[in-house]
Amino acid sequence: MKSVLFSRFFILLPWILIVIIMLDVDTRRPALPLTPRPYFSPYAVSRGGARVPLRRGSPGRDAAKRNESRPRPHPEPPLPTIYAITPTYSRPVQKAELTRLANTFRQVAQLHWILVEDAVARSELVSRFLARAGLPNTHLHVPTPRRYKRPGLPRATEQRNAGLAWLRQRHQHQRAQPGVLFFADDDNTYSLELFQEMRTTRKVSVWPVGLVGGRRYERPLVENGKVVGWYTGWRADRPFAIDMAGFAVSLQVILSNPKAVFKRRGSQPGMQESDFLKQITTVEELEPKASNCTKVLVWHTRTEKVNLANEPKYLLDTVKIEV
Ligand SMILES: *[C@@H]1O[C@H](CO)[C@@H](O)[C@H](O)[C@H]1NC(C)=O
Ligand SMILES: *[C@@H]1O[C@H](CO)[C@@H](O)[C@H](O)[C@H]1NC(C)=O
Repeated sequence: MKSVLFSRFFILLPWILIVIIMLDVDTRRPALPLTPRPYFSPYAVSRGGARVPLRRGSPGRDAAKRNESRPRPHPEPPLPTIYAITPTYSRPVQKAELTRLANTFRQVAQLHWILVEDAVARSELVSRFLARAGLPNTHLHVPTPRRYKRPGLPRATEQRNAGLAWLRQRHQHQRAQPGVLFFADDDNTYSLELFQEMRTTRKVSVWPVGLVGGRRYERPLVENGKVVGWYTGWRADRPFAIDMAGFAVSLQVILSNPKAVFKRRGSQPGMQESDFLKQITTVEELEPKASNCTKVLVWHTRTEKVNLANEPKYLLDTVKIEV
C-alpha cells in the first residue's frame, strides 16, 4: 500500500514542478526587463521611467514573421543578369574612372562586370583593382592592332568584341539564363535607375543619353510606344543615331546572332553602334525605356584631360605610389 502511494507521488512530482515553474515564469515576466530593450521585450521604459507596454504588433514585424514560415506559392523568376562590357586602357585617370564605375555597379543586383583591357597582358593595376572591387567580374585583355591606333578611327572595337566572344563562349553549352548586355564605357556616369530600366529588355532597348553629340542630350523619338526617329545633332541619317551608352541587348539576341560583332572594315567613324545594331534588330523592334525616352539616366561625362605638367621624369618621391 505504502509503495503504491510512493510510486504515485513520484509520477506526479515532475508534473507539479513543471506547473510551479510555469506559474512562476508567468508572474515574473513583467519584472524581467530591467534595462529598456524595446526590440525584445513587450515593455519599454518611457521617458519618465515608468514601464509602458509597447503598442501591440508593429504591423510590419508581425506580418513579416507570419510570412517567413509560409513558402511562397509562386517563386519569383530569377533576376536577369546584367553583363556590363567595359573596354579600358592605361592612362592617368584609369583607376579613378574604374573606381567611380565600381561604386555604381556595386549597388546593382546581379551584375557581372566584363572588363577588357587594351593591352598585351592583364595589367597589375587592373588585376589588383578588380580583386578588391567586390563585384562578380571577368578580366580580359586584347591589344588594339597598331594600324588602328589613329585619331579618327573608332576605338575599343577589339575589346568589345572580346567581351562578346566571352559571353557567347560562356553560354555555348548551357541553356541561356535570362541576361542583358550593355556597353558601359568607363568615362560615363550611370544612374541606378538605368539598370532597373534595362533589366526588362526583351530584345533591344534604347534610351536617351546626356551630354553627347554636341548637345545637352540625344534621344530616340517615340510615338505610340515605338521608336520613329532620332533627336540628334550629328549625322541624323545614321540608321541608329544612338550612342554606345544608349542601348542594351538581351543575352538571347546575342546568342542567336553569333556573327554580330563590331566591324573595323567598312565601318566609318561614329557608325559603330549603327553597324552593330543593324545586324541584330530593326528600328521598329526597339523597346523605348526611361518613360518613352523622355528621361536622361546616363551621361557621357568625359573626364577632363589631367594636367601633369609638373610631373617629374624620374621618381623623386621616397615611395612609389599607384594612382
Ligand atoms: C505577407 O503576405 C501577404 C500575402 O501573402 C502580403 O500581402 C503581405 O504584404 C506580406 N507581408 C510582408 C511583410 O511580407
Ligand atoms: C509610352 O507610350 C505608350 C503609348 O503612348 C503608353 O501606352 C505607355 O504607357 C507609355 N509608357 C510610359 C512609361 O510612359
